[in-house]
Amino acid sequence: MSIIKNLDLEYISSKINDSKRIIILEEIDSTNNYIKQLYQSDYNNEMIVIAESQTSGRGRLGRNFLSNKDSGIYMSYLIKPRLTLTDAAKITVLSCVAICVAIEKLTSVIPQIKWVNDIYINNKKVCGILTEAKTVKDKQIPEYIVIGVGINCYKQNFGIDLENIATSIEDETNKVISRNDLIAEIINNIDSYIKNDIDVIDEYIKHSFIIGKMVEIKQFDKSFMAKVLGITSDAKLLVESLSGEVLELSTGEISRVVIK
Ligand code: BTN
Repeated sequence: MSIIKNLDLEYISSKINDSKRIIILEEIDSTNNYIKQLYQSDYNNEMIVIAESQTSGRGRLGRNFLSNKDSGIYMSYLIKPRLTLTDAAKITVLSCVAICVAIEKLTSVIPQIKWVNDIYINNKKVCGILTEAKTVKDKQIPEYIVIGVGINCYKQNFGIDLENIATSIEDETNKVISRNDLIAEIINNIDSYIKNDIDVIDEYIKHSFIIGKMVEIKQFDKSFMAKVLGITSDAKLLVESLSGEVLELSTGEISRVVIK
């Protein structure tokens, strides 16, 4: 049976365990922007928005996320979990694991996580996650959380700036997977982890490829080299700086991993 590459609303709906509104768009600036606007104006419930392409896909720290037409999954999942703000921070970690497990199920290749929310195969990035929450003044529970997921699925032109750092699932696994199946797997994994209150930190650590490595850490406007000692149970990065200082980081990102 040949794999269906096209996005298929009915098929995805039939595979998702808990039914919810799903919207598929041909093109949009950013599915995260769209879903937040729709929530404000029209539909204040859980939903999923998927686009065939994005003209201004957003990444973390104000970066762009390349969203070539028909080449990947550009999806936002708006959830309304009854989590405290502290627990809401775990949604990014939980989403990373949900995506790794789903990719592994479809390709038999085990992806790896670069703290905090990038997914790699063979030392190149295949997926980024941008989680955004709406908080309500004086309330301890966020009104909603948007999990924005960008996955490079098929071979495509990444352009000169990205060709050495980005890749696709097809490039690395030689498999042309069904985006419909991958989307359904990811949503079902996220839902099941939240509903059953599953702690995914051990899986997150198992998939991490930076422990024991020298990395460059970018925090605000400064960068420094450090050795990664581990990841704590609340997903903070434990590092030792070149001067021997041990730090626990909850912000910033790893801008370079020194691979020996
Ligand atoms: C990153 O790599 O820094 C995060 C990238 C997140 C991209 C996804 S694609 C769907 C959703 N809509 C956006 O504008 N961004 C996220």
